[in-house]
Amino acid sequence: MAATKLRLIVAALLVIAAAAADAYTNHTVGGDAGWFFDSTTNKTSADYSAWAANATFNLGDYLIFNTNTNQTVIQTYNRTTYSSCIIDDALDSDTFQYDGGRNEFGSAMTISVALTIEGTQYYFSDANDGEQCQQGMAFEIKVEHGLGLPPSLNQPPPPAYVPPPGPANDEGQSPPAAIASTPPSSNHAIILVLASLFLCFLV
Ligand SMILES: *[C@@H]1O[C@H](CO)[C@@H](O)[C@H](O)[C@H]1NC(C)=O
Ligand SMILES: *[C@@H]1O[C@H](CO)[C@@H](O)[C@H](O)[C@H]1NC(C)=O
Ligand SMILES: *[C@@H]1O[C@H](CO)[C@@H](O)[C@H](O)[C@H]1NC(C)=O
Ligand SMILES: *[C@@H]1O[C@H](CO)[C@@H](O)[C@H](O)[C@H]1NC(C)=O
Ligand SMILES: *[C@@H]1O[C@H](CO)[C@@H](O)[C@H](O)[C@H]1NC(C)=O
Repeated sequence: MAATKLRLIVAALLVIAAAAADAYTNHTVGGDAGWFFDSTTNKTSADYSAWAANATFNLGDYLIFNTNTNQTVIQTYNRTTYSSCIIDDALDSDTFQYDGGRNEFGSAMTISVALTIEGTQYYFSDANDGEQCQQGMAFEIKVEHGLGLPPSLNQPPPPAYVPPPGPANDEGQSPPAAIASTPPSSNHAIILVLASLFLCFLV
C-alpha cells in the first residue's frame, strides 16, 4: 500500500517537474535597471545578488546584460577569481570576458550569455580596477539541469567528411547523414518516457 502511494507521488512530482521546466528563459540581469555602475556615487543600479537569488536558472537559458562599455561582463567558474574582482591572474579555461573588446566610454551594448554548464558560476564587472565588483557589480548563480541543453546549443558541427583511402572509393559512397536536430519540445517527451520506464522498474 505504502509503496503504491509512494510511486504515485513520485509520478506526480515527475510530471510537475517536467511541466515547470517546459521552456527556456531569457533573464535580463537587474531587470529594468540593467547592468550599470554609477562612478560618481559608487553605486550599482540594482542589487544583483538579490536579483540572482530571486530567479531559477536552467541549462539553455540566457543571461541578457543591458549595459554600456563603462561596465564589463566577466563570467567565471573559479571562485578565487570572482572573489578577487580582477582577471589579471585568471585562467583562460575557466574565465571569459564578454565585453567585445570595445574600449570607448559609454556606448550602449547588449551581451547575451548562454548557460551551457550545470552548477555554480559567477559574474562580475572588473572595470575601474575591480572597484565596480567590490561595490556590488557581482553575482553568483547555480544553473540547474531543467530541460537540458537545446539542440541549438548542444550539437557541435559534424566533423568534416574524409573519404576513405584506397582505389575502391567510388561514387557509391556518401558522407554520413547529419543527425537531424530535434525541437526542444521532444526533450519533454523523452523525460516522460524515461520517467515511465523508471516507474515500470519500480513496480
Ligand atoms: C533569448 O536570447 C537569445 C540570445 O540573444 C535569442 O537568440 C533568443 O531569441 C531569445 N529568446 C527569447 C524568447 O527572447
Ligand atoms: C568612490 O570610490 C572611490 C575609490 O574607492 C573614491 O575615491 C571616491 O571618493 C568614492 N566616491 C564616492 C561618492 O563615494
Ligand atoms: C522576485 O521575482 C518576482 C517575480 O518575477 C517579482 O515580482 C519580485 O518583485 C522579485 N523580488 C525581488 C526582491 O526582486
Ligand atoms: C582559480 O583562479 C586562480 C587565479 O585567479 C588560479 O590561481 C587558480 O589556480 C584557479 N583555480 C582552479 C581550481 O583552477
Ligand atoms: C562612462 O564613464 C566615463 C568615465 O568615468 C564617464 O565620464 C561617463 O559619463 C560614463 N558614461 C556613462 C553613459 O555612464
